[in-house]
Amino acid sequence: MTETAPAPYAGPKRILSGVQTSGSLHLGNYLGAIVKFVRLQEEAECFYFLADLHAITVWQDPAKLAGQMREVAAAFIASGVNPNKAAIFPQSAVPEHAELAWIFNCVARLGWLDRMTQFKEKSGQHKERSSVGLYTYPVLQAADILVYKATHVPVGEDQKQHLELTRDIAQKFNNDFGAPGFFPITEPVIEGPGARIMSLRDGAAKMSKSDPSDNSRINLLDEADAIAQKIRKAKTDPEPLPETLDELKLRPEADNLVGIYAALAGRPKAEVLAQFTGQGFGAFKPALAELAVERMRPIGDEMRRLMADPTEIDKVLKAGVEKARAVAGPVVAETKTLVGFWDAKA
Ligand code: TYM
Repeated sequence: MTETAPAPYAGPKRILSGVQTSGSLHLGNYLGAIVKFVRLQEEAECFYFLADLHAITVWQDPAKLAGQMREVAAAFIASGVNPNKAAIFPQSAVPEHAELAWIFNCVARLGWLDRMTQFKEKSGQHKERSSVGLYTYPVLQAADILVYKATHVPVGEDQKQHLELTRDIAQKFNNDFGAPGFFPITEPVIEGPGARIMSLRDGAAKMSKSDPSDNSRINLLDEADAIAQKIRKAKTDPEPLPETLDELKLRPEADNLVGIYAALAGRPKAEVLAQFTGQGFGAFKPALAELAVERMRPIGDEMRRLMADPTEIDKVLKAGVEKARAVAGPVVAETKTLVGFWDAKA
């Protein structure tokens, strides 16, 4: 991919991220992304959207799609995203995303997309039966980001490659259309022990909503006893916790549980390990279960309250769409001028 130095960008700091509306959210989404949304809303203007256009790259039941979208919105709000500080809105309600995505489809190269590992994982053995949308998914993601000229994008580690593609598209657009610094070269915000949460059943697999075993993940809507039971049943080994992070790394399941504890507690992993060194899982798991229930129960309860009355969520979404379009509209208009389209308003 292109290696030229980033062009100067003079615009304001802007934070953006999205979560797909394709089913229930889990602890990985929360610790990898949503926790950071809450922290970053104190730093700059924020746009957090419900990625329903991305969700339909694989089949979604039309009768459930809007409800799934509201559930993600409820998760944001219940986790502490403040609608007065951050715009929360469905991607499909802001047509500028799809419009810019088309232009970017003509900027991105097939060779770039052919390298995307997430497409390879999701399309599996049957690439020819996947939707075209699943293939161009990362191009739409670049449009989501650059339609707000977002400078920082908080995501989990699995999104790193998509963020690199976004940077390449911005760079190529700026070069091709003689507009240095028009689009920012966006920085991913991927850090801390929450960036890669693994399955509770297999320390080598990512915690994921597509895992057939519900015991592999903690869902945001799980009740307290389900959370505690899943942690009790989590795969581990018979050894006590080691002294160093290097030793811990060799034991993926143990490493994951210590990482989850650290991310939930907002403490460095080394500090958590020091606290539990020499103890077995008979002592560590109950401590983790207690912490997880304490942190997650209020979020689940608040989500259920919000989802019981969609009018509150819908009000937030309508205000979010307005804020989003006020920024995205002019960016798409300028982009179209750079591309050379006829301007109906001129
Ligand atoms: P999605 O819905 O698959 O994931 C939402 C967020 O959760 C993070 N995540 C994890 N983090 C840590 N450990 C895990 N096991 C784990 N599983 C998921 C993801 O990294 C992500 O941050 N393509 C995006 C959605 C998107 C987007 C965007 C994000 C569409 N357009 C523009 C940022 C900017 C995604 O994977 O969503």
